[in-house]
Amino acid sequence: MTVAYRESKANYSGIKPDIYEIIDLETVERDLYNILSDSKGCVREMCSHIMSAGGKRIRPLLVMCCGLVFSPQSPELVHAASAAELIHMASLVHDDIIDESCMRRSRPSINKLWGNHFAVLCGDYLFAKAFGILAQDRLLKSMSYMVEAVQSMCRGEISQAHDRHSTRVNMKRYYERISEKTAIFLKCCCMSGAAAAGADIRSLEAVGEYGLNLGLAFQIVDDILDFCGNADIMGKPKGEDLCQGNITIPIVLLQKNHKYAEWINGVIQGRAYPENVMDEVLKALEDSGAIADSFRAAGRHISKAKTSLKALPASKYTELLFRLTDIVKSRIK
Ligand code: FPP
Ligand code: MG
Repeated sequence: MTVAYRESKANYSGIKPDIYEIIDLETVERDLYNILSDSKGCVREMCSHIMSAGGKRIRPLLVMCCGLVFSPQSPELVHAASAAELIHMASLVHDDIIDESCMRRSRPSINKLWGNHFAVLCGDYLFAKAFGILAQDRLLKSMSYMVEAVQSMCRGEISQAHDRHSTRVNMKRYYERISEKTAIFLKCCCMSGAAAAGADIRSLEAVGEYGLNLGLAFQIVDDILDFCGNADIMGKPKGEDLCQGNITIPIVLLQKNHKYAEWINGVIQGRAYPENVMDEVLKALEDSGAIADSFRAAGRHISKAKTSLKALPASKYTELLFRLTDIVKSRIK
């Protein structure tokens, strides 16, 4: 199995290389390799495929950084970080089955290469590895945060499927979904790291609040970029979420606009998005101010995330958490 850490570093557009000098993600990468090294046959091939595709490693980065604010690096903290990445990998393997996606991280997905039957089991395998490592180290608090994260992701995926092509997704429901699908996992990563490093209750709450708001901002920016990001950089056509019936914040805001409400609801119910319709949707999103308002919503969560950090002890790691909020924000520009 090849370790693709250096490759993934080069691939990652958002995180500056010096962050990897402050946080020792290379040790996490080696740990992931070790955890998966007893896999055999087809399982080994699938794990190798996933590892070599790399990734941003944002979840282990949060676990490590939030732990290092409170204690020096320990093998337990590294294991907590690896467990978070394994759960993330498992969730993506299952997500690609659900979405029938053929590509992941610019490579063919596991379901594309091995089929759904093998892909379901591969996700389960990674998932079990994650909890195995937490159990082995008796990282019970970290484990309970990861349990919360997985339950939440499942609820989020189910409500997303339930709401597909629905005109009744309001702001409350949208926020519930992105909290469950994305933000609670980031919150739990922060809390897992801090708990593994012995943080007190007040600090745990602060890092949790930070992670939740970072996650909300991250997902909102992602949902905006789906409409107005560069299709070549994103590696997918504009408006793909809407085509799949996934109603996100720019559309929820457009539905509140008197000029466009009736029209966009008709478009959603029609479930067809030829190029000319998608062009009109993009124009309406700009013209109505829905894109600008979505950016403002992301900005509010960035500010909240920054405020939460004031409760933490000052350190280069707290500083790094602060910088991560600006990286999410800079995707906006
Ligand atoms: C990507 O979303 C997927 C998620 C954020 C979570 C998926 C979660 C599950 C399938 C349930 C949890 C399962 C396990 C085994 C832990 P997306 O489809 O919006 O993003 P994409 O464009 O990257 O696919
Ligand atoms: Mg998907």
